[in-house]
Amino acid sequence: MGEAIELVERFPGVEDYLRIRSAAGMHAKTAEAATRALPNTLYGVSLQRDGETVGMGRIIGDNGCFFTVVDIAIVPEFQGQGLGRRVMAALDAWIQRNVPESAYVTLVADGDAKYLYQKFGFVESAPLAVNMEYVMGPGGERDTSYLEAAP
Ligand SMILES: CC(C)(COP(=O)(O)OP(=O)(O)OC[C@H]1O[C@@H](n2cnc3c(N)ncnc32)[C@H](O)[C@@H]1OP(=O)(O)O)[C@@H](O)C(=O)NCCC(=O)NCCS
Repeated sequence: MGEAIELVERFPGVEDYLRIRSAAGMHAKTAEAATRALPNTLYGVSLQRDGETVGMGRIIGDNGCFFTVVDIAIVPEFQGQGLGRRVMAALDAWIQRNVPESAYVTLVADGDAKYLYQKFGFVESAPLAVNMEYVMGPGGERDTSYLEAAP
């Protein structure tokens, strides 16, 4: 089934980006945030099937000391068929070619996605270091309620 799906070295536009994040059950971003964010992508890919974008992944950072893998998502109908691995393989190839010695390459793994990232050399940093975060709320408040709602 995966053979009809093409990996393209271009990140989706804002509309597809928001649609895929939502379909994959990821935290919603505003169109304003996405419009500001996407041009700052260092490297991104998308998966195309019959002209429709069904998956994506990208790398952001300062292009020297810090690189972060973000927005790895496959629409639910096509999950579990090796497409997340294809996206990660493309990002990993770019990292191997472009990231200088001493740089940090990081990501935040949601749930079982950590098993995918382990295959590309990522190791859990806890307890030496833990991820700390909040989401900016509409009134400037620091929202962490989504963490409490998690199973
Ligand atoms: C996470 C996600 C990107 C993975 O993509 P996918 O296409 O479903 O994954 P793949 O079919 O490519 O599987 C990737 C690998 O991880 C492994 N894997 C996945 N879940 C696993 C689990 N629970 N235990 C062990 N291995 C697991 C698979 O076996 C596979 O390994 P293989 O290639 O050696 O067989 C996709 O499920 C998704 O979009 N999820 C919702 C959004 C999300 O959580 N994104 C990640 C944010 S950090």
